[in-house]
Amino acid sequence: MQVCAATVASPACIMMLQNQNKLGSMTNTTHFGYKTIQEDEKVQEVAKVFHSVASKYDVMNDLMSAGLHRVWKAFTIAQAGVRPGFKVLDIAAGTGDLAKAFAQQAGHAGEVWLTDINESMLRAGRDRLLNKGLVTPTLLCDAEKLPFPDNYFDRVSVAFGLRNMTHKDQALVEMRRVLKPGGKLLVLEFSKVAVPLQKPYDLYSFSVLPWLGQRIAGDADSYRYLAESIRMHPDQETLKTMMETAGLERVQYYNLTAGVAALHTGIKL
Ligand SMILES: C[S@@+](CC[C@H](N)C(=O)[O-])C[C@H]1O[C@@H](n2cnc3c(N)ncnc32)[C@H](O)[C@@H]1O
Repeated sequence: MQVCAATVASPACIMMLQNQNKLGSMTNTTHFGYKTIQEDEKVQEVAKVFHSVASKYDVMNDLMSAGLHRVWKAFTIAQAGVRPGFKVLDIAAGTGDLAKAFAQQAGHAGEVWLTDINESMLRAGRDRLLNKGLVTPTLLCDAEKLPFPDNYFDRVSVAFGLRNMTHKDQALVEMRRVLKPGGKLLVLEFSKVAVPLQKPYDLYSFSVLPWLGQRIAGDADSYRYLAESIRMHPDQETLKTMMETAGLERVQYYNLTAGVAALHTGIKL
């Protein structure tokens, strides 16, 4: 890389630096499903997916997983062990399945935040909770830059959200930062399925899911992205190491439905 020597940079030097910055960002690529794209395009691509599916998100979840996502979430809620008065942050909360349960458990003395980067998903989640009589603070925010102080929450959860994030390592560091010492992070995500199930699972993912997506949500591409993004997501052991690298301790995981999903938990000590 060339360096400008002058203390006050000349216009030519400024242009050179701008070009270098452009080149720098052009070389930072990431995955969007199986596609390789520029890092700064991923947020928009992911946003398109969730704006498109938000209104049919819940019905599609039930259909695609034959209701299994409810069992995985119930397990996550049990492992969270939220008690009255707890402060809880649900990241990438979407339509709010976890936040709803946490708000009921934390009660009036507690504080449960419903957050997501996507306005369509967040609106759907907020309305759903309001319809259940649950009024929770709701915030549009990026998990990679959480607008909360250090050491604030007793629990932080992210269900099926980490996979969509560009800098997963940065998001994990942020999740740890906002946890109180002794607080627990719960990451529920699709994971690596057990070998005997791989073939039928692939067949299901790449033919049935896009077909269902087209029929129900009018959008096959978003569900093709879902199948691809699951394959590109770190497996159980890799995610465990990533959480440890982010500074979490006592990291463990539970395979759910033969690894179709996995719940990873870690403590901030
Ligand atoms: C598959 S939905 C999960 C919704 C909900 N947690 C559930 O389990 O049903 C994934 C969510 O992650 C959100 N998301 C993606 N990238 C994000 C980011 N960087 N920060 C916060 N939320 C993000 C999307 O907007 C979307 O609502």
